Amino acid sequence: VDTVQCVASVSKDANTIPAEFIRSVNEQPGVTTFHGPGPEIPLIDLANTNRDQIIDEIVKASREWGIFQVMNHGIPPVVIQDLQRVGKKFFELPQEEKEKVAMVPGRLEGYGSRLTNKQQGTKNWVDFLFHNIWPQSQINHAFWPDNPPDYRHVNEEYTKYMVPLVDQLLEYLSLGLRLDANVLKEASGGDNLRFLLKINYYPPCPCPDLALGVPAHTDMSAITLLVPNEVQGLQVFKDDHWINARYIPNAIIVHIGDQIEILSNGNYKGVLHRSTVTKDETRISWPVFCEPPEDMVVGPLPQFVSDEIPAKYKAKKYKDYQYCKLNKIGVMLN
Ligand code: SIN
Ligand code: FE2
Repeated sequence: VDTVQCVASVSKDANTIPAEFIRSVNEQPGVTTFHGPGPEIPLIDLANTNRDQIIDEIVKASREWGIFQVMNHGIPPVVIQDLQRVGKKFFELPQEEKEKVAMVPGRLEGYGSRLTNKQQGTKNWVDFLFHNIWPQSQINHAFWPDNPPDYRHVNEEYTKYMVPLVDQLLEYLSLGLRLDANVLKEASGGDNLRFLLKINYYPPCPCPDLALGVPAHTDMSAITLLVPNEVQGLQVFKDDHWINARYIPNAIIVHIGDQIEILSNGNYKGVLHRSTVTKDETRISWPVFCEPPEDMVVGPLPQFVSDEIPAKYKAKKYKDYQYCKLNKIGVMLN
């Protein structure tokens, strides 16, 4: 493979990466990251006793940013720390152990590595694991690691807290648009709303200024709830700048995805984001994509369409939306 030397150094070998990971200049984080004081992703305290204020903050963040962090969300810190611990342990296993849950062609679950991943165009500096965690009927344990032994229990615990938190956020998002509390949940699948967990594992990269973990995208989901580890890496695009997300221990990062943008006819915005990598540290993140069932048709809700304000999006089955988006970008992103 061709390699590219990215920095002058005594040890040439340690400072190269295969050319297929090198981004075009307009994408390179080294030249496109915003440095210095600037706006921060809104942080919302869900334990606030003033519910109207919570809703106002969520609405403002979802209109202006398409992303916010939540604290006091009801998921005990130990549950989050366990999730982080078992995920990290899995990725630290020998390659052949991880391959036991390898992704197979045509399926959207399983383990994949940046070295073996067949992907068109520039490659992403990330290994990953996908598996459904909810509802029960969507779970295929063939794609859940057996190792570490408590992987399953810990992920079930996390899911137990995740499901009501998503309900609560969808309620607030609905009320914030003057809809009945259950409208956005029902319009994105109700009890069949599917929760897909991904673990992104970003190993140290010799050329972090030239490569990306995951390139710029919006999530296809309705919403995504993400736990990161302590290593900086998530960036969001706001007012023409790529801004770093601040790490707040035990907070959850909530992304508005394409389906909520569509249902709200653009009142809420899906956030454009990407992830960077670092030279000596391993970054890990755990997004949960909350997605409508495959055959569910998603389009702008009639409440937001009128003669003055036409529908800005076509209604589509979720599986067709997914198919078009994956083909357009040529890779599995979410
Ligand atoms: C992604 O959006 O796919 C990755 C985000 C992250 O790792 O923080
Ligand atoms: Fe994403």
